[in-house]
Amino acid sequence: MALYNLTINDVKTQLEVEPDMPLLWALRDILGLVGTKYGCGIALCGACTVHVNDKPMRACTVRVSDLVGKSVRTIEGLATSTTLHPLQQAWIAADVPQCGYCQSGQIMAAAALLKSNPNPSDADIDSAMAGNYCRCGTYNRIRSAIHSAAKAARLSYDATQRDVGQERKV
Ligand code: FES
Ligand code: FES
Repeated sequence: MALYNLTINDVKTQLEVEPDMPLLWALRDILGLVGTKYGCGIALCGACTVHVNDKPMRACTVRVSDLVGKSVRTIEGLATSTTLHPLQQAWIAADVPQCGYCQSGQIMAAAALLKSNPNPSDADIDSAMAGNYCRCGTYNRIRSAIHSAAKAARLSYDATQRDVGQERKV
């Protein structure tokens, strides 16, 4: 066992674990962050997708000991204290999930996509989401919800810019 310091959902966190413990085990079994799911355990299905320094990563294969000083975000840390992430709002509006098992991984993969590409095409979405499997076949609704969230984020950004302009005139 050894001590490892990292940041999880904006909280500085010290974990005392074996060096080879996968992040997914620490999230679920030690920290109680069970929104991130175990699917295949070999980085193939995407159910365990989280962000590490804003990039999507498979929590089932990355080790806690490789994350010292890094910032991890899970589905529990995607919303602010008062507002759901635009993707979460779009997911609800489009009624995306069926069984729901894959969905936190899907949303985290989509959030990473929108961070790097705020206006993705269908092809961009299919490419970015290709490693996230859904046995219930919700792919069409996932794609549609990503487009909706991207549009909502753009409208919100435009409104912010208008507000900034108004402030400057005062
Ligand atoms: S559980 Fe990690 S990719 Fe499947
Ligand atoms: S909603 Fe059931 S596996 Fe995706």
